[in-house]
Amino acid sequence: MKRLKEKVALITGSASGIGEATARLFAAEGATVVMTDIQDKRGMKIAEEIGADYLHVDVSKETDVVKAIDYVIEHHGRLDCMFNNAGIAGAVGALDSVTVEMFDRTIAVNLRGVFLGTKYAGIVMSKQGNGSIINTASTAAIRTGYGNHIYSASKAGVLQFTKSVAMELGEKNIRVNCVLPGFIPTPMIAMARGVPVEEAGSKLPIIEEAFKTAQPIRRSGSVDDIAKAVLWLASDDSSFVNGHALVVDGGVTGGRMWSDYMLAIDGLEKALGL
Ligand SMILES: NC(=O)c1ccc[n+]([C@@H]2O[C@H](COP(=O)([O-])OP(=O)(O)OC[C@H]3O[C@@H](n4cnc5c(N)ncnc54)[C@H](O)[C@@H]3O)[C@@H](O)[C@H]2O)c1
Repeated sequence: MKRLKEKVALITGSASGIGEATARLFAAEGATVVMTDIQDKRGMKIAEEIGADYLHVDVSKETDVVKAIDYVIEHHGRLDCMFNNAGIAGAVGALDSVTVEMFDRTIAVNLRGVFLGTKYAGIVMSKQGNGSIINTASTAAIRTGYGNHIYSASKAGVLQFTKSVAMELGEKNIRVNCVLPGFIPTPMIAMARGVPVEEAGSKLPIIEEAFKTAQPIRRSGSVDDIAKAVLWLASDDSSFVNGHALVVDGGVTGGRMWSDYMLAIDGLEKALGL
């Protein structure tokens, strides 16, 4: 039984990484998928492969987001799942190097984009009397040291926005949840280190290798790990889950790793001459 049969889903930032994997999984699970992104060539190619629609949508622009929601209603009659996933690493570096322009762009894509997607999906879902909205936050929302300053602030904003709105929309039978991915090799990780977008995909095996030992589960996370979590939040299997922050990180935010703790204990014992 396909888990998203007869459901209509709109996914932002779906031409790459987590959004792409989720679009592919949703389509395989029977959903009618409307993909959106600003990388139109990639987006259209994937959409053709999986039988989805594709629209150019910059999530930081209100007119683009409204246009996308209107398109879904006009062409598919309803919107069951809104996955507000588009995001950028944004302002990198130490605080004294962050400009107001970089700050504004990071917040505009990562937080304003989620606000707009949630607001306009919420309006049509309110009329329907149901729906599931899923936002992509990050482990950087709950721990320092997993992202740049403004990125972390934007994702903490996504997390608390999700929880706050879930209280309002939950009363209308609309669930609002977020997913907090850990270390996932995607083009965004390479681009944050200055790799051009057209080369970022070729760096994924190197990033995957580097992420293998970053968490207690000794393998890199994958875009499919996140897509499966989003699928659960989108499906009726999670129909009593609202205002939840689902961490999918191989345990990295749990605290200090056991092997690091044992190393520290060894060092202490050596210092004590034991
Ligand atoms: N990769 C990780 O380790 C990780 C960890 C935690 C959270 N996330 C979050 O996951 C989400 C997806 O990122 P990813 O890792 O798959 O990276 P990615 O770069 O592969 O995908 C992000 C997509 O968003 C699109 N995008 C960027 N700006 C946009 C805009 N203004 N409007 C519409 N689309 C836009 C990009 O074109 C791209 O296709 C982001 O919100 C990111 O912050 C990623």
